[in-house]
Amino acid sequence: MSSMGIVRKDWTPGQLTADPSAYVGRKVAIFGGTGGLGRAISEALIQKGAAVTVLGRVLKDAPHPGRTFVAADFSSLVQTRDVAQRLAAETFDAILLTHGIFASRVREVTPEGLEKDLATSALSRWVIVRETAGRLGRQRPAGGKRPRLFVWGFPGGERQLDFTDVQSARNYRWSTAHGNTVVINEALVRDTVTKFPEVDVFGMNPGIIKTNIMAGVLGQSSLVLRVQQALVGLLFQSAETYAKKIAPLVVHPELEHRSGALFNRHAKPIEPNPWLLAADNSARVAAAADALVASVLAPRPSSQPKAPH
Ligand SMILES: NC(=O)c1ccc[n+]([C@@H]2O[C@H](COP(=O)([O-])OP(=O)(O)OC[C@H]3O[C@@H](n4cnc5c(N)ncnc54)[C@H](OP(=O)(O)O)[C@@H]3O)[C@@H](O)[C@H]2O)c1
Repeated sequence: MSSMGIVRKDWTPGQLTADPSAYVGRKVAIFGGTGGLGRAISEALIQKGAAVTVLGRVLKDAPHPGRTFVAADFSSLVQTRDVAQRLAAETFDAILLTHGIFASRVREVTPEGLEKDLATSALSRWVIVRETAGRLGRQRPAGGKRPRLFVWGFPGGERQLDFTDVQSARNYRWSTAHGNTVVINEALVRDTVTKFPEVDVFGMNPGIIKTNIMAGVLGQSSLVLRVQQALVGLLFQSAETYAKKIAPLVVHPELEHRSGALFNRHAKPIEPNPWLLAADNSARVAAAADALVASVLAPRPSSQPKAPH
């Protein structure tokens, strides 16, 4: 199976384009909207008249009346929870989760005791969804579309999670550590479908696109990173081209009540990871993610030591 995902045959909506008026005044929060794909999507939506809140570490864009910036570090689950709780999710039409990193060559652990890629690219999303999905869109005028939640990652492949080493503590390989975040993000989509039936949730597989995502593993400003980015830029679509294809999904009526759908780099629906469909794998992944989040965020009596990870 291709890691780009197999296109579904049971639902073929074609290349979606949305009525320009559908974007005007839509409120969208983009976690990771400060860089890469999230930044390109935020630009596309702002140009179409949406009101976008971008959340990330550093805003690189000039001020624009259509953009609000919230500074946050999503490698910390405590900080992520605080930011998510403060977000007025009730007033938003959609939340996009694009923030993330690629695991570095040497295993890194956050001050909260989590493998850094796992914390930043997967568990922080788990926290955001738990804190916002139940409130999402609840205070908008009646009669509008159902609120939408989009989870970026690399869904639709055949990766599996080793439940005995979710934190990659025993056998660290950066590719496996990042692969774990891919499985957990697709499981988050499945989990949200059942836990938050008032929300339509979608998983996003962008394929390969030139961004800064490989900086952690190849080295920021390194020659090899620049060569990788040049090659990817030559061979694959740009973030801006991808953003133009993706923007209609945020507002298009075709997605209404299609919760759980996954989309490829051309915004075409794709099949899920078969391993997550088998047995109780999806529920076990959800339980593992919940347990790791709780090991950081659950209140502990001050006399007890921090839970082992
Ligand atoms: N590009 C690809 O080829 C590709 C392929 C498959 C999947 N994906 C997935 O697509 C999503 C977007 O990736 P991308 O290519 O756009 O990556 P990117 O260019 O590296 O951008 C990542 C974004 O995440 C933010 N971020 C990273 N660490 C953060 C932290 N600790 N706290 C707050 N924000 C943080 C960055 O914010 P700052 O810039 O402010 O730090 C930036 O806005 C990710 O889920 C990625 O796994 C990408």
